[in-house]
Amino acid sequence: MSFSIELELQRFPKVVQLKDGTKATLRPLRRDDEKDFHGLFLSIPEPERMFIKHRVAEIETIRDWCRNIDYGRNLPLVGLVGGKIAGDATLHQQLGGWKRHVGRVSVLVHPEFRERGLARALISEIVEIARQIGLEKVEAEFIGEQAAAIKMFALLGFSQLLRLGNYVKDMQANSHDYILMGLDLKTDEEYAGVGG
Ligand SMILES: CC(C)(COP(=O)(O)OP(=O)(O)OC[C@H]1O[C@@H](n2cnc3c(N)ncnc32)[C@H](O)[C@@H]1OP(=O)(O)O)[C@@H](O)C(=O)NCCC(=O)NCCS
Repeated sequence: MSFSIELELQRFPKVVQLKDGTKATLRPLRRDDEKDFHGLFLSIPEPERMFIKHRVAEIETIRDWCRNIDYGRNLPLVGLVGGKIAGDATLHQQLGGWKRHVGRVSVLVHPEFRERGLARALISEIVEIARQIGLEKVEAEFIGEQAAAIKMFALLGFSQLLRLGNYVKDMQANSHDYILMGLDLKTDEEYAGVGG
């Protein structure tokens, strides 16, 4: 784990207040979260679950993630409400290679805990971490039907970079549009600083 991520993670656990007044604790995923984290994926209705890239209904998938935590590659930030994992936003990084300056964000909120601002809180933290550890951009991938998520990322400042018609296939082999959204993390001042 890089020194800067370690330093960033010292801010957690962090308690935030959701729109309805309930408190959520945000912290990185831990090895012993396996069962609870699997529970979050099982709470996602089947039609939505097929939009997720991995076989998250299988405990083996989640076990593998929890046992091989490497925050420098995948940093899952979970939001707990009443001690239970109610949502997750993960920062994925490519180590080396031509996308090494671009982080990818994915997010998921338990249906019972939606529209209270949890995704917004988690993504804001993840974007701040990405900025602090020196990433230059963050991106997020969607399929055309994820209208709520696309709207939400737009509200958070992301813009659509690309839309490819019928480009990806879900687990049932049905084709869907692929959408890439992105956010630039370089501030105007930083740009201004280059070249004096
Ligand atoms: C998309 C998702 C993460 C939103 O989680 P959430 O905790 O309900 O979102 P928030 O309450 O933080 O909402 C943030 C903003 O998005 C908007 N939003 C959220 N859900 C919405 C919906 N169903 N329809 C329209 N707008 C919506 C809200 O207007 C809100 O803005 P506001 O704070 O100005 O009111 C959640 O619905 C989910 O897990 N969906 C399935 C997985 C998915 O599509 N993930 C994204 C792929 S990376």
